Amino acid sequence: MEHVTIADIANFDEKEVELRGWLYNRRSSGKLHFLQLRDGTGVIQCVAFKGDLTEDVFRLCGELTQESAFTVRGTVRRDERSSLGYEIGVRAIDAVSAAQEYPISPKEHGVAFLMEHRHLWLRSSRTHAILRVRGQVLEACRAFMSEGGFTLIDAPILTPAACEGTTTLFETDYFGHTAYLSQSGQLYMEAAAMAFGKAYCLGPTFRAEKSKTRRHLSEFWMMEPEMAYCDLDGDMDLAEDLIMYVVARVLDRCEAELQLLERDPGPLRKIAKPFPRITYTEAVERLVGQGVDFQWGQDLGGEDETTLADCFETPVLVHRYPAAIKAFYMKRDPTDARLALCVDMLAPEGYGEIIGGGQREDDLQTLESKLDEHKLPRQAFEWYLDLRRYGSVPHAGFGMGIERVVSWLCGVNHLRETIPFPRTLQRIYP
Ligand code: 4AD
Ligand code: MG
Repeated sequence: MEHVTIADIANFDEKEVELRGWLYNRRSSGKLHFLQLRDGTGVIQCVAFKGDLTEDVFRLCGELTQESAFTVRGTVRRDERSSLGYEIGVRAIDAVSAAQEYPISPKEHGVAFLMEHRHLWLRSSRTHAILRVRGQVLEACRAFMSEGGFTLIDAPILTPAACEGTTTLFETDYFGHTAYLSQSGQLYMEAAAMAFGKAYCLGPTFRAEKSKTRRHLSEFWMMEPEMAYCDLDGDMDLAEDLIMYVVARVLDRCEAELQLLERDPGPLRKIAKPFPRITYTEAVERLVGQGVDFQWGQDLGGEDETTLADCFETPVLVHRYPAAIKAFYMKRDPTDARLALCVDMLAPEGYGEIIGGGQREDDLQTLESKLDEHKLPRQAFEWYLDLRRYGSVPHAGFGMGIERVVSWLCGVNHLRETIPFPRTLQRIYP
């Protein structure tokens, strides 16, 4: 007999099949047991009718505990009442392993309890749906980059220097020297862009974020493209195209997941190019115009981002922030030295900054003085300065936060639900 998956069940209408999985839930009534079998690809109702089965098998159906592993053989039948459209008429059941009393019951649990059991919570339909969307987002990123002629170049995790400021560094001993977990692969992607023209990395990055917010993880995933011979405008074009591609892919492939999450796809369908591009200075004017107490020169906070994003139905690109509040590597605006040629993309509906990037300083002397200004150790950056010594060109790139994008697309408020095993200020278990 053929072993099939629930996702494929429509191809086996009226056929005898074998399914392997776990008991998600059970309902019983006299001569019937309704077993909800989950196999990782979906959930299907298996109907065990006393008259069809030996006494032993029928009894076993009634004794299976939640999350017990079992295989079932039976006939695929149409069932218009189920969202799947099919059910299984049970002929035989084999128990693989009986589960002890499962800690996560269908009743409501607090988030702290669920997070403590994240290794089991992965099996629940909500988590399952979010992580499927995440998988599609990651695949879409790779496909978009590959179609665009970018070479995948992996950045190191252990690094000798800070990329995004020294306050959020995770430090570790490296054979008697100090090393840091990477905050961003950017500096390495700049080396890669000079070697490959267009390159990107996609991997985990680390920040010791000491504040407790719903938008920050201490381990998060970022995709970082970098392009030689590219300016800020070209960088914004790429960011816009990437987001269009990712949104289209998720709408196309994750309809069931979004529905399960009660995520209205309407706002996502409305997203179209071009995204509005406003300067930081215009953003400040908008905020002040809406009565927000905001001084030019301040960084945008989460609330400010939401206020701004609420003015638009699509993501908005905010460019040319004050250089003083941005990283050392950003190129100054040649028309106004107070400004950096940088850009942040803010998601609609209050999901905050999903992309940050810009054009990089390509002049050796300027970059050297920026390192000094930021009190960064010159020695650790000599290799980076070499990129300006040997064939420096205008170049630009950005980082897209995977969890931020997933939280927006899924309509999930807290980033901790958008990564399989979240690491936050208070959590490194499980
Ligand atoms: O704006 P950030 O800090 O930019 C950089 O790291 C650049 N070096 C990237 C580049 O130009 N190659 O981070 C980029 C994005 C943010 O827009 C946000 O989406 C996400 O990474 N991000 C975080 N996501 C979750 N938790 C955190 N603590 C995050 N910090 C940044
Ligand atoms: Mg940023």
